[in-house]
Amino acid sequence: MNPNAQTFRWWESGIVYQIYPRSFLDSSGDGIGDLAGIRQKLDYLQWLGVDAVWISPIYPSPMADFGYDVSDYTDIDAIFGSLLDFDTLLADVHARGMKLLLDYVPNHTSDRHPWFIEAKSSRSSAKRDWYIWRDAAPDGGPPNNWRSNFGGAAWTWDKATGQYFYHAFLKEQPDLNWRNVAVQQAMLDVLRFWLNRGVDGFRVDVMHHLAKDRQYRDNPPNPDFRPGMSPYRELLTTHSVDLPEVHEIVALMRAVVDEYDDRMLVGEIYLPLERLMAYYGASGEGAHLPFNFQLLRLPWDAKGVATVVERYEALLPSYAWPNWVLGNHDKPRIATRIGAAQARVAAMLLLTLRGTPTMYYGDEIGMHDVPIAPDQVRDPFEKNVPGLGLGRDPVRTPMQWTGGDGAGFTTGLPWLPLADDFTANNVAVLRDQPNSILSLYHRLIELRRAEPALSVGAFAALPVSDNVMAYMRKAGDRRLLIVLNFAAHACGFDLSMLEAQAEVLLSTHLDRHQEQLGDNLQLRGDEGVIIELR
Ligand code: GLC
Repeated sequence: MNPNAQTFRWWESGIVYQIYPRSFLDSSGDGIGDLAGIRQKLDYLQWLGVDAVWISPIYPSPMADFGYDVSDYTDIDAIFGSLLDFDTLLADVHARGMKLLLDYVPNHTSDRHPWFIEAKSSRSSAKRDWYIWRDAAPDGGPPNNWRSNFGGAAWTWDKATGQYFYHAFLKEQPDLNWRNVAVQQAMLDVLRFWLNRGVDGFRVDVMHHLAKDRQYRDNPPNPDFRPGMSPYRELLTTHSVDLPEVHEIVALMRAVVDEYDDRMLVGEIYLPLERLMAYYGASGEGAHLPFNFQLLRLPWDAKGVATVVERYEALLPSYAWPNWVLGNHDKPRIATRIGAAQARVAAMLLLTLRGTPTMYYGDEIGMHDVPIAPDQVRDPFEKNVPGLGLGRDPVRTPMQWTGGDGAGFTTGLPWLPLADDFTANNVAVLRDQPNSILSLYHRLIELRRAEPALSVGAFAALPVSDNVMAYMRKAGDRRLLIVLNFAAHACGFDLSMLEAQAEVLLSTHLDRHQEQLGDNLQLRGDEGVIIELR
């Protein structure tokens, strides 16, 4: 089929950009980013060329987990602004032809949410069953061996009512009981509240956690556990995560979103690819996009990456649209993981694979993980499980806008330290450098937007060698070849078998425009190229 002839939906052809709102731009001087700050940077996002912005949680929250502990789903935390600020931001985003996704946190509320306060008030409270309460084990300990993702038991004893409550994350984040129909209704109404305001969709937090085993059986030990891994991983999550019933819940959310035109759901799901596919729904009634996190975790070598790309493509159900994620607020930054030079190759990979790309703020200027001194740690994960490198503060540091005071992020004291290289690596400086990583992102996005072969075209893998991965993207007669060198040394690639005239459209080094190629493509170390075949 000729993709040019089809109409693609915005979340298929578009590029998603994640903003961690505390760290994007602080307009008030309190050291924490806010909605008015995001609004000031819409020109920048439009220049960059992204289509949709996903903002991590901005609802009222005690900030035990920096917004992923929501105490009111239908308002804005004063730190970030007001509902009026939100409406203004949304209108401005839409006026630019862009889309806005909110973060929906359905698995757990804050322990200060009025629902939990009521549930906790007595065993006979009308909202008791909105959360997950269990009696103690015969020895007085927790009802089973389930662990919290953030260390320790997943059960906390409530002395006043003499029962344990379940929390997959912090004890300040009690899990909702999605088997209760009143919970379903209340939480689906939250979606409607924001959809009615005009948001274009949601990133759904820990979607795979929503259903739990009815019998609360113990989880089995994980045979692959090794010291140095998060203690959570000592057990498999057989009975606490990814239960079949979760898909019924996702389908309820999807049905609400489908009451509106052109909205979408993207699910945060950390599962192996085989299990991830079910989140599209057995016939497409699940998430529009279950996040594909493979690029966040794969060892960075040509063969490994090529194998996973092909496996993912092969596993996708016919009705499913692919997606790729290169960074987020929970995982090490790509520039730290694979180095600054390969981060440019990764950018080309992300923006030339088939499927919706999701970028993380700051990756376009090559931001790296910022070391956090012990007395500056903010992330509860690091506080609970220190020293294993699991803390997420290093990837949440302020966006580097300028080389001036506060990196142009704040006039106050930033809530997390600035990177020490911000005077050289910031938007203002890199935008003017024709060979910078920011210029590369800009060009890649421009090309992806201009070329249906890249945004929506077919994908075909070519044979991979030790260091070089290559694939073709096609739309109609247009054929683009992408060749990526994962090594720091030069590598060759044989073009003769393609029997076509080849011309370089773009190199990650940004210096090979319109170069005509013979039978042999020479790639420099850490170089990727996009080639037009005729
Ligand atoms: C998701 C979020 C993470 C948060 C957790 C608990 O994994 O991405 O930041 O801590 O859920 O809500």
